[in-house]
Amino acid sequence: MAEDLNILKGTKAEQYASLIPQIQGLLTGEDNLIANLANISAALKEQFNFWWVGFYWVRNDELVLGPFQGPVACTRIKKGRGVCGGAWSQGKTLVVPDVEKFPGHIACSSASKSEIVVPVYNGSEIVGVLDVDSEQLSMFDETDQFYLEKIVGLIPHN
Ligand code: SME
Repeated sequence: MAEDLNILKGTKAEQYASLIPQIQGLLTGEDNLIANLANISAALKEQFNFWWVGFYWVRNDELVLGPFQGPVACTRIKKGRGVCGGAWSQGKTLVVPDVEKFPGHIACSSASKSEIVVPVYNGSEIVGVLDVDSEQLSMFDETDQFYLEKIVGLIPHN
């Protein structure tokens, strides 16, 4: 397939709806996890220009930094720590309108103001999280949650 993304302008839901089949196209026929996580990060960055978007992947009892787009970030997060470790331990998406009001938030970048973290499931097991940060307050809502959960559900697991 062509590697160019078709960037749509419109409502947030319209943008996600246009992006999802393109992400499906990028994942089709590719079973390499790093390649797929890298392309999902890049597609989300290109469509929405989020401040930081990427994955942390479970390795033993920690999350370890995976493919991402944005400024350099902390590499390891313990279960239950920060928004990422919280989404992992609670097994659910966390939407944080103001990171300064989230107890234990891990500030990888002082520019980050709001955040959403979506667990990635392989069956009943959490294998990683998708983390998206914005430099604006209250950037993320249930629309982001709905579509980002759909997107992480597309990731093939071997
Ligand atoms: N803020 C996250 C840490 C990861 S960075 O934002 C990329 C957290 O509290 O888990």
